Amino acid sequence: MCGIFGYTGGRDAQALVIQGLKRLEYRGYDSSGVAVQNGFDRIHIRKTQGKIKKLEELLAKHPLKGKTAIGHTRWATHGVPNEENAHPHLDNESQIAVVHNGIIENFGDLKKTLEGEGARFQSQTDTEVIVHLVAKYYKGNLENAVRRALKDLKGTYAIAVISSKEPGKIVAAKMDSPLVLGLAKNGNFLASDVSALLDHTDDVIFVENGEMLILTENTYRISDRADKPVNRKPVKIAWDREQAQKGGHPHFMLKEIFEQPAILTAILKERVIGGKIRFDELKIPAARLARAKRIVIIACGTSYHAGLVAKYAFEELARIPVSVDTSSEFRYRDPLVGPDTLVIAISQSGETADTLAGVREGKSKKACTMTVCNVLASSLAREAHGVIYTHAGSEIAVASTKAYTAQMAILYLLAIQLGVLRKKLAPKRVQQLLKEFLHLPLLMQRVLDDYKKDQKEWAQNARDFNRRYHDQLERYFSTDPEKRKRSPSGFFLYLGRNINYPNALEGALKLKEISYIPAEGYPAGEMKHGPIALIDENPWVICIAPQSATYDKMLSNIQEIRARGGCIVPIVTEGDTEIPKLSPMYVMEIPKVSELFSPFLTVVPLQLLAYCVAREFGEDIDQPRNLAKSVTVE
Ligand code: AGP
Repeated sequence: MCGIFGYTGGRDAQALVIQGLKRLEYRGYDSSGVAVQNGFDRIHIRKTQGKIKKLEELLAKHPLKGKTAIGHTRWATHGVPNEENAHPHLDNESQIAVVHNGIIENFGDLKKTLEGEGARFQSQTDTEVIVHLVAKYYKGNLENAVRRALKDLKGTYAIAVISSKEPGKIVAAKMDSPLVLGLAKNGNFLASDVSALLDHTDDVIFVENGEMLILTENTYRISDRADKPVNRKPVKIAWDREQAQKGGHPHFMLKEIFEQPAILTAILKERVIGGKIRFDELKIPAARLARAKRIVIIACGTSYHAGLVAKYAFEELARIPVSVDTSSEFRYRDPLVGPDTLVIAISQSGETADTLAGVREGKSKKACTMTVCNVLASSLAREAHGVIYTHAGSEIAVASTKAYTAQMAILYLLAIQLGVLRKKLAPKRVQQLLKEFLHLPLLMQRVLDDYKKDQKEWAQNARDFNRRYHDQLERYFSTDPEKRKRSPSGFFLYLGRNINYPNALEGALKLKEISYIPAEGYPAGEMKHGPIALIDENPWVICIAPQSATYDKMLSNIQEIRARGGCIVPIVTEGDTEIPKLSPMYVMEIPKVSELFSPFLTVVPLQLLAYCVAREFGEDIDQPRNLAKSVTVE
């Protein structure tokens, strides 16, 4: 959840660490700090609460000179977001400094012991026990002290440690939190993820669980738990640096929404060769896949919604029963999975703790586990029996968009492949499916072009909603009982049927996470069983109603809402004349497409609507409050 960064070499370490932390800020931004070695006396640190900008301002006034430094950007888990709890943490002699991403579960016991031995704690964090342990075991060799300290720790960690007594050296270690080494001409780097290293190098080495890293200006050494050297070749990262920039869009989220057609094209080009679907990196034999009797999909948040859409595709195309579970429920439910189950874990970051634990649970029950994820060599990719990468490029905005459609694309291709392996799909049908698939990026681009063309209207609609929302709030808090009796409620309701029901959940999640407006997704058929009680002229009811086998059912649901004065915001297939009559105001259109592929198109207006409303409310769209890009804790 946090981001750590380190540099040792010939250059000004403070500036490089700040630049690296900025690239990691999407991982957490409760506080940040840097520790710099500048000779033999002691380690100097600067840390502040809040965003890295504040740390930069402090360093501008009180700079730290030195060629070796470590830094941290925090997402608080233990100890409130304040300067005291910000990393780096120092030992009592200010000789050793530590930054940490992860959670030390047994920190309570360790703290008691260390306090009993005279250690003075400055913070409420779990992390601080690490620096006092290293100081306790320090006998002139930092890596030995760190290795000894690690033996006492239970939990997850990626740590970086420096000591004033060993200039130019950084010692780091990893257990279940990401850590990457970056090899550059004028020094060596380490970071929580690749995107922070790309400004300096694209030669990286992924550190594995239980490994330690000893870095100096010109050397690096990796050793395993038993202190045996590990020789691993650097891999070259193909991501272009520009991707890290916003490509001219005001927010990463909008840039990533607009990247979707190109990513879909790239995925289809890479994965469909000569009419055949290929997942070269998936080291699970086709026979093993084909003999699965059922599929269990596990994931969280937006990835969970991609799993729900995929359920419809797998059941239709491969005729295999699929259940979809949130990872946090699956892992503690003693799930009924076994050798005949294919467990598919979906994750953008590949680091989500609950999904990682879900895969381990599946493995412990001898299920065949695979992951669909976006980050190369992430923990999930290394934990599961097999991996298929979505190759959506780095997704910076916390609200996931391009990773969602990329996940759906990979899962649909896997469903087609499984349909072929299970002899449920005739070659002619496969060709037809792939033909429509290959046409999809164009249709998606049309939805985005329409948005570009009608931006004014979208902004006006968002302003409309903003005005209505504040009117309602005003009435809600009005002292006039008459006004209050009408009990207005400013929220969004998202409705969909069949394969578009998961997008109703996704649309609601997108709005909630970036505009903080209450929103709920529902299967439209469920309305009469409760939610329709919420309908009056106040809520906006987003109805996902493209041409489909359940169009008529959707139409009657919309009429029921209309009958109670509800404000309908429909997503329809271009040329639909029925539904727009019921809601002339806010109609969003998508091009004609089969129901099976319609979620790829209906999700785009939902992403754009959430974006426009949040922008209208002036919220921090790329880094919404209380959220972070990957949730590496339970
Ligand atoms: C989605 O916009 C959110 N960022 C969040 O729900 C996310 O989908 C969830 O945390 C799962 O993350 P993952 O795909 O990296 O595992």
